[in-house]
Amino acid sequence: MQQPETGGTDEIQTMVDGDKNNLWHHLKPHACFDTREQMIIVAADGLLVEDIRGRKYLDATAGGVWSVLAGYGRDAIADAVCAQMKKMPYFAGVYGTVPAIRFAGKLLEKMPKMGKVFFSNSGSEANEKAFKMVRQAAHIIPERKGKYKILYRNRDYHGTTMGAMSASGQDLRKKDFGPFMEGFVEFPHCACYRCPYDARYPACGIACAKKVEDIILDQGPDTVGAMIVEPITAGGGILVPVPEYFPILQQICRKYDIWLIMDEVVCGFGRTGKFWGHDHFDVDPDIVTLAKGLTSSYGALSATVVKQHIYDLFLNDPSDPDTRFNYFRDISTYGGCTGALTAAMENLRIIETEGLVENSRVMGAYLREQLSALERYDCVGDVRGKGLFCGVELVQDKAARTPVTEEQMADLLGNILGRGVIAGRTNASLEGLNNTMYFAPALVITKAQIDTIVQAVVQAIEATF
Ligand SMILES: Cc1ncc(COP(=O)(O)O)c(C=O)c1O
Repeated sequence: MQQPETGGTDEIQTMVDGDKNNLWHHLKPHACFDTREQMIIVAADGLLVEDIRGRKYLDATAGGVWSVLAGYGRDAIADAVCAQMKKMPYFAGVYGTVPAIRFAGKLLEKMPKMGKVFFSNSGSEANEKAFKMVRQAAHIIPERKGKYKILYRNRDYHGTTMGAMSASGQDLRKKDFGPFMEGFVEFPHCACYRCPYDARYPACGIACAKKVEDIILDQGPDTVGAMIVEPITAGGGILVPVPEYFPILQQICRKYDIWLIMDEVVCGFGRTGKFWGHDHFDVDPDIVTLAKGLTSSYGALSATVVKQHIYDLFLNDPSDPDTRFNYFRDISTYGGCTGALTAAMENLRIIETEGLVENSRVMGAYLREQLSALERYDCVGDVRGKGLFCGVELVQDKAARTPVTEEQMADLLGNILGRGVIAGRTNASLEGLNNTMYFAPALVITKAQIDTIVQAVVQAIEATF
């Protein structure tokens, strides 16, 4: 780990004051600044982060939002980015750049059924691009005229911008930010532990998936253009659909000519033990959106990857006054900066050469096994996940599945932190249901580090409940 920049007591105090006075933190109620100092991270290496007070933590969240897949301290990424920045730091995506061409090629190798890559800055933006493609096609393509509605799933999250929020099924993330955009329609989640129909798998007949057809018929199939889903719902509680689920959705989408948008922002690049989250299922999306692990957060980059048949819809005829503007008229200043693309290229090289997807599968199975042992506690209702992406749902009453309170969750996470481990949780996502702990470490994690995490969790559970 490199030496932190800050050292002296005065400088630490300057930073602590600056944090309190100048920063508006993400997802944080202001009152917490009055009672305690925010953690200020100053250095990181592998899975370890160090705060300004010199305390070290094992980060089981890969940077808080599951994105630092390759781990911290990757000089190879930093060096490659530096060299590219010196050579050619930027030109807008209206022209080609060598890093953009190379990395798009790499992505398409990883998704052979896809045809084109559109770069942007964030997961939210990648989803916005997909929505804009759906909306534009509903105007310019005669067979898709009026197919402007986008179906989204309860408990899924697709981003912070207004379109992406409109497509998110999390009531607390949306609370007080409305009105939302017209034409976004919600369908039920697929969480077996809290089945929307109070049924049990497989007797349920996968009613949650079949319900989607009723919703489409109710809306009018001629008005529905796309469906967006996460392969495994992330921020909504780590929800893994049953194997029959996606084939049913796919069949419904095909029946009504509805594009399936797979949001791989969290699950992509090995997080779930396979390269893509949707590789776990028999499903073939039309559009895939990517961000987070795309660069392991060494750069801000996202991508909207589409099948060729979608790209081909936007081939305008410049000589025809009616269709000359039918190309995808979209741009993003920082979308596809050469530095971020170089980080993405180097990150992918690391993931492949170090076998990190396989490590996610193997270590993920071990993590899941260790966490499953927590079911011996009355407060642990459900343990679920795939690869290095696990959730532990906490309850006050196992039989009734009553969620623990926000205060109990905060105490538990605080007790884990006090033992030197940063764990995650459903955070201001679902009213009354922010009761799932998350474990999504960097994909370089070892067995010994998993043991350290689980030991801290065991001690924290015993201290809290
Ligand atoms: C599944 C999913 N999609 C999209 C986003 C939005 O990504 P960003 O925060 O980069 O805009 C997130 C963020 O957590 C996410 O979890």
